[in-house]
This record gives sequence, C-alpha cells and structure tokens, in this order.
Amino acid sequence: MRNFVCLLVVGLVSCLAPAVAAGAERPDWAFPVTDKVLPPSKDDGKPKTAPGSTLALTRDQIDDLFNAPDWFPDMHPPMPTVVAHGNKEAAVRACGSCHLPTGTGHDESAYVAGLPVGYFVRQMADYKSGDRKGSGTMIAMAKVITDQEVRAAAEYFAGLKPRPWIRVVETDTVPKTFIGRGNKRLAHPDGGSEPLGNRIIEVPEDEDIVLNRDPRAGFVAYVPKGSIARGEALVATGAGRTPSQLYRTPALEHAERRARRRLGRADEGGGREAERRRHAGDRRLHGVADAVAGRRPQENAVDLLCAAPGKRDAAILPAAPYGYRDQP
Ligand code: HEC
Repeated sequence: MRNFVCLLVVGLVSCLAPAVAAGAERPDWAFPVTDKVLPPSKDDGKPKTAPGSTLALTRDQIDDLFNAPDWFPDMHPPMPTVVAHGNKEAAVRACGSCHLPTGTGHDESAYVAGLPVGYFVRQMADYKSGDRKGSGTMIAMAKVITDQEVRAAAEYFAGLKPRPWIRVVETDTVPKTFIGRGNKRLAHPDGGSEPLGNRIIEVPEDEDIVLNRDPRAGFVAYVPKGSIARGEALVATGAGRTPSQLYRTPALEHAERRARRRLGRADEGGGREAERRRHAGDRRLHGVADAVAGRRPQENAVDLLCAAPGKRDAAILPAAPYGYRDQP
C-alpha cells in the first residue's frame, strides 16, 4: 500500500503540472483553509472517551495545544516534554497535539513518524531561516524552539514506526465536505456528494476519532480514477522523461549547488573522509525515500507543488543533498 500512495501522488501531480505552469499554484484542495461559515457544531460538551483508554476529555482539553491527548500510551515510547506539552512560555506548542503521539498526523499537520533525524532537524532550520515557506505555525515555532527541543522531537519521531494511515480510493464522486477548525476537512452534516474532478480529497475514516486526536484511525484519500496506474507508469518508465528532468526546478538546482559547495569544502581533506561522507549521503538518500512512501497523498502533492520556483526552497525533494551537511 505504501508504494501505491507514492506512485499515486506522482501520477496525480504529473497531471497537475500544466495547471501549475498556468499559474494555479495553490489549488484549494491542497491548501484547505477553515471555512468562514461553519455548520453548527455536533459537540454535546460531554467528555469524550475511547474504548480501552482510561481518559475522558472535553473538546477544550483535546484541543489544548500544550497538552497532547495521550489516549493510548502503549502505542508509542514515552514522549519528551516538547512533544507532550511544548513550551508554553516560549509559545512552542506540543508537537504531539497536531502530529499525534504516534507521529501519524492530521490534515492540519504532517506525517512525521520515521522521518530521518537529519531531515527533521533540517526542516526546522529551514522554517526558521525562511528557506522553507508555507506554514505560519511551524515557522513561528521554529524561530523560538531550542536546538535541544528540536533534537528531542526529531529523535522521538524518528524512532516511531511508520504505519499505514491512509486508504486510497479511486472514484468519480466524493462526499460533500467542509473545512472545519484547524483546517480539517470533514464530511458535511447535510450529506450529499459532488464530482471529485482533478483533486485529492481526504476525509477521516472515523470523524470522532480524528476530532478527538485519537491515533487509532486515519484517513481515506479519494483520487481520480486511473491515478494509480498513471503514477505507476510514470515511476516505471518516466513517461518519456527521466525523474531528474521531472523534478528539476530552479529551487532544487539552487539547493544542489549549495550542497555541492559545502561538500567541496568538506572534501578538501580528500581521501577517506570524502569517501565516508559520500557513503553517509547515500544512506541519507534511502532515508529520504522512506519518508516519502506512506505519506498522505495530499501532503506529498503539496511538497511537489511547493517545489516550484520561489515557493519552497527546501521541501522533501532537495532534502537529500542537504544530508551531507547533517552528518556528524
Ligand atoms: C498546530 C499544529 C502543529 C503543531 C503543534 C506542530 N506542528 Fe509541525 N507541522 C504542522 C503543519 C501544518 C506542518 C506542514 C507544514 C508544511 O507543509 O510546511 C508541519 C510540518 C512539520 C515538519 C515537516 C515535516 C515534513 O515532512 O517535511 C516538521 C519536522 C515538524 N512539523 C515538526 C514539529 C515539531 C518539532 C513540533 C513541536 C515543537 C511541531 N511540528 C508542532 C503543524 C503543527
């Protein structure tokens, strides 16, 4: 299944390429924003529970971003403070609130379970420096979080086992949805369906579980019919283009040039040290490939769309060249 997700997103994004070139760089489906008018809340104000968990939490407790709800402590190792509670004084929110203690994340965050430590640390540095754009939340926190907190979070999430989190369904029609608080796409309470068109629409497998930030259930991704086969053909044959041509953007080239310059300096010693660094770089490439497989198609699509010039300088694609610098 993980491969499918990866293939799928490449296929879909390749169909989106002309639209991107034409200027439609931020399709609404990929960058959901909370609707101005929301349907009435279904919350009855009572504490929520989960079968097998000892917790009972109100909606406000669940959405307290300095206390990640830990419904099932057995599903993960003990969380470092920054993941469980953040750092309230510095306005660093609990990573586990949005990314969940299992790192599997929500549509308001990202799938971070199993990301290589170097990649994770690099993303935080890029949010801070402005090299990675897009997420106001992450950029603001990256500016104030300490290096030790980043390291603790990176090591925690890297140690988590990635697991299937998204079920991909090819279809023509999707349930009607709205974008709720926290940019969460939810089924519209009035029901109904609408054409999918050329979009990826992700909805919770179980809405209550997702709203409760309970890590037991993930998402369904509705995708256009034929996306998986198109993605497979593209990955297998390159559809007449080599992967490097497909992904070659000015941003990527810039990142590579910088990495080569650094590598050049690092290589001055030559010999064994240069060799060691090349091998370390190769290992990192594998780590980065793992990080793409199994992620939400929508999130991968955003990364690919944002790799367009001037959008995101350091998305997952250019992460590999950076790897050289991150080696100890
Ligand atoms: C309020 C929700 C929220 C909280 C809390 C949060 N994040 Fe995020 N995080 C996001 C969003 C949204 C993204 C995706 C942003 C993007 O596309 O650049 C993200 C992305 C990331 C990424 C990049 C993942 C990738 O695949 O490239 C890292 C690393 C990360 N967060 C680390 C952290 C750490 C460390 C903390 C805790 C200090 C944290 N986050 C807390 C919402 C959150």
